[in-house]
Amino acid sequence: MLIELPRQTEVFGSVKIHELQRILKLDSGGFENPMAKDIPFDELKDVLKRFAVIIPTKDEKIHLLDGVLRAIPFDCTVIVVSNSKRKEYDLYKMEKEAIASLHERVQQEIIVIHQKDPELGLAFYDAGYDYLLSKNGLVRNGKAEGMMIGMLLAKSVGKDFIGFADADNYIPGSVREYVLDYAAGFCMSESPYSMVRLHWRYKPKVVEDKLYFKKWGRVSEATNRYLNLLLSTNSGFETGVVVTGNAGEHAMTTKLADIMCYSPGYSVEPYHFVYLFDVFGHKAEKIAYPNAEAAGVEIFQIETLNPHIHEEKGGKHIKNMLLGSLCTIYNSKLCNDYVRSKVLEELGDILDPWEKPPEVTVMPPIGGIDADRFMNVLERKSETLERYEETRR
Ligand code: GDD
Repeated sequence: MLIELPRQTEVFGSVKIHELQRILKLDSGGFENPMAKDIPFDELKDVLKRFAVIIPTKDEKIHLLDGVLRAIPFDCTVIVVSNSKRKEYDLYKMEKEAIASLHERVQQEIIVIHQKDPELGLAFYDAGYDYLLSKNGLVRNGKAEGMMIGMLLAKSVGKDFIGFADADNYIPGSVREYVLDYAAGFCMSESPYSMVRLHWRYKPKVVEDKLYFKKWGRVSEATNRYLNLLLSTNSGFETGVVVTGNAGEHAMTTKLADIMCYSPGYSVEPYHFVYLFDVFGHKAEKIAYPNAEAAGVEIFQIETLNPHIHEEKGGKHIKNMLLGSLCTIYNSKLCNDYVRSKVLEELGDILDPWEKPPEVTVMPPIGGIDADRFMNVLERKSETLERYEETRR
């Protein structure tokens, strides 16, 4: 793969944010130039072997999930965390059948579990981690909650890199690219604490019967603007470096995943930045993670070659996502009155004039959870967990 080198890197305390990098060739010929890095396929493959791709899914079309599953490179372990409906008709059963049939034909390692499995709730309880649980002892609804289940399963099978791919993607070839882009980021990284976030080249929409290749959506534009404002007002230098505030498609080293705090629902992705700025930024109050502090936390932002075409979920969803995103910035320790007033202005058509953005619920790091024990509990008792091994000839 040939990928542009970042033209600039913003350093904020121990966090390094690299400017957007474009993919020049997905399959390159070994030609390097001062502006770009060539990453041989063998190097990407070495990362893929240590990689788990988590697919959170809830009531998506089986066709879409099937395409995503088939697109993920064979060397990766695939982890599907489903919150799909089981009453009326059992969509989860259909998902499991699709996975079993695919595994029979391809023999890739795939793990699948249902988010509402009572044993999952008990496994979290047993681990002393009840932050994901609702009063009935089950894991709450939410994409972030599904992602956290997936991360623990990835840890239990010893993976060093964890990435995410949404299940509602219409273009399987783009999903394959996303995973390769993640691997490329990790090949470039100099720190064991790194994250790769994808920026879609285009997100096409139908406008007046024609396809329009849109670059930015309202939510991502606003989230990026206020994350950059947060950085700028704290460093004293204006920046526009953040372009992946809402990157649903992202990946982390397991070492970084272990020390991150997470926010529920759709605020999970912008909160990554807010958390890292708060804990590793130059105004951090204490050294919480000396190893990560010493090595630095590296964030790569990669522009995909493929456009992103996914299921559209409507206006209310967009408003929730905007509120979920901006409340992380509003509640950041680094947020001053000026940034707060700008965020309130942006939320003017969502909040009433007397309303403030809600507090952010924070789920603490999962690094302290014994992932092997967690998996053991599930393997002994769970009825929804299915584990398909990889078998190579
Ligand atoms: N396990 C699980 N549990 N998965 C869920 C849940 C849940 O409660 N809710 C949603 N998902 C799955 C969906 O089925 C899909 O595969 C993925 O999470 C993304 O959810 P969507 O509801 O389709 O989100 P979106 O497409 O509007 O937004 C995506 O892109 C945004 C950036 O533009 C998400 O990835 C966002 O997180 C991201 O910020």
